[in-house]
Amino acid sequence: MEREEWDSYADDYHRFIISPLQSKIDNPLFGEIDRLAKAGKRTVMDLGTGIGDLLPRLAARFPEIHAVDFSRRMLETAKERHGHHGNIVFSQADMRELSKLQVRPDVIIAVNSVLLPSFRDVNDALAEIHATLGEEGVFIGIFPSMESVLYNCMLVYEREYGKFGDEKQALRSTRRIVERRKYNFITCVYEDNEERQKFFYEFELRHRLASAGFKNVHLKKVHYPWGEQSGDYEDFHGMPEMWDWYVTATK
Ligand SMILES: C[S@@+](CC[C@H](N)C(=O)[O-])C[C@H]1O[C@@H](n2cnc3c(N)ncnc32)[C@H](O)[C@@H]1O
Repeated sequence: MEREEWDSYADDYHRFIISPLQSKIDNPLFGEIDRLAKAGKRTVMDLGTGIGDLLPRLAARFPEIHAVDFSRRMLETAKERHGHHGNIVFSQADMRELSKLQVRPDVIIAVNSVLLPSFRDVNDALAEIHATLGEEGVFIGIFPSMESVLYNCMLVYEREYGKFGDEKQALRSTRRIVERRKYNFITCVYEDNEERQKFFYEFELRHRLASAGFKNVHLKKVHYPWGEQSGDYEDFHGMPEMWDWYVTATK
């Protein structure tokens, strides 16, 4: 999605967006933030800050925070909510041109914000993040997982087979339920009218991060408990939960 579409989500953000920053989600990001603060990192950028949900946690732990977003409306909302913290600088910038900001953060965090549908834009954004990080800098990213979407397809298909006892019928029904036509499994893009959003395979993230120059790339899952936290997807209580990719990497 481009800037104007994100602007339109700012006023009622949590109605539209399922976030890995919600309190019920066991997110390795929180422990890592504590670890980096104790390790003496000073300057942190929240890239694609949205309405700034991560900012209070960062402002309480690091001396200098840069909250960056290309959506004017998102940034205004983040500033209204968290501008009272004296150590946050708010900047409107596109991550494809991040180096224009001329800051050298020790840590860059991008929580579900590298979502540009074109893989060339994603490559540009990752290269800019790499170039912007200071020496021995750390990148932490959370990315929507395409494997998780495929996993959901399997769960729905087996459930539908249980109903019909017929594989063809179960497949027809599954395609409709999972909105198969909206997902492109080659480009990893979800498309619904004007909305186009990137998802990522694990192998793709490893490839793109290595190509951008990152080292020590580690991936984990951030799980979304079944129920409200799993958004538009159906609940399959008792089965492993759906997930986003949690990535740490160094310059
Ligand atoms: C799903 S929201 C996530 C917000 C926040 N990180 C959170 O987890 O609550 C994605 C945010 O990334 C921003 N964003 C998307 N593409 C961007 C780009 N190319 N440059 C800067 N910000 C971008 C959007 O404006 C939006 O505020």
